[in-house]
Amino acid sequence: MKKPKGSIWFDGKFVDYDKANVHVLTHSLQYGSGIFEGIRSFRANGGSALFRLDDHVKRFFNSAKICGMKLRVSRAGLSKAIMDTVRKNGLDDCYVRPFSFYNDSNIGLDVTGKKVSTIVAAVGMGPYFRGKSSGLRCKVSSWERISPSVLPTEAKASGNYVNSLLASMEAKRSGFDEAILPSEGGFVTEGAAENIFIVEDGNLVTPSKEANILMGITRDTVIKIAKTIGIGVEEREVHREELYTCDEAFFTGTAAGVVPIINIDSKKVGSGKAGGITESLMDEYDKTVHGNSANPIFRDWLTYL
Ligand SMILES: Cc1ncc(COP(=O)(O)O)c(C=O)c1O
Repeated sequence: MKKPKGSIWFDGKFVDYDKANVHVLTHSLQYGSGIFEGIRSFRANGGSALFRLDDHVKRFFNSAKICGMKLRVSRAGLSKAIMDTVRKNGLDDCYVRPFSFYNDSNIGLDVTGKKVSTIVAAVGMGPYFRGKSSGLRCKVSSWERISPSVLPTEAKASGNYVNSLLASMEAKRSGFDEAILPSEGGFVTEGAAENIFIVEDGNLVTPSKEANILMGITRDTVIKIAKTIGIGVEEREVHREELYTCDEAFFTGTAAGVVPIINIDSKKVGSGKAGGITESLMDEYDKTVHGNSANPIFRDWLTYL
């Protein structure tokens, strides 16, 4: 991967990419106490636009509130920082990472009086699952998805991602592309950093909020697109067995986009190729993020830079 260059917004100032550094004992590095977002900007109608900026900023502030972190930047200030960072780096198609963390190198869990810093980085990013455009081979993980009595599943809190990482590492080391995490009760929750959908009898089925999933913004986008093009959507408990008997399956996520799943636990999903409904949603999603949706409401999801 080409080493990214450019500038990172760091507590209100731009610093060189290589100089945006912190101490090795920084609280959030030691204890996973940061919160973050992932936003994409896309080429759109001759310019570039951030997709669902307000929704991502809202989730970022919710993550901070859930984790009791007092941010020193306002919502409007963070939105501006995100726009400025993409512009400053001259990027159009890119991934943006806002991150807030306890920027303090005194060892100790207590955060009282510890400085909270916020950064915004923007990097060029190709396909999240490189070389897998025809579809993914997934494994139901031996790691259960975290539950809200243990960690705040609705927050994008750094520490939560140890769970995602363990599941993803296990899948990759076993020769698969990605993990699907079960709940404590054995129901389907989501991928390591993606929500999951299956297609049954022409309708979409996806785990509901009760499955303690991260309420993905791409998930919401796909649900809204599906409803407007006449595809039914059911949000409910999804049984592991349905992963094996469904007609189609796919992941959604800001980094991943909409990606077909063609094999789960070494069993073909449907025909073993991306299905027709998945392909039409991929196409509609692509149009939507590039500002070419036929639906004017969806065009409002873009913030042009
Ligand atoms: C655990 C998890 N689930 C789902 C998603 C997909 O969410 P979104 O579509 O908002 O990127 C992500 C990515 O942010 C994630 O980290």
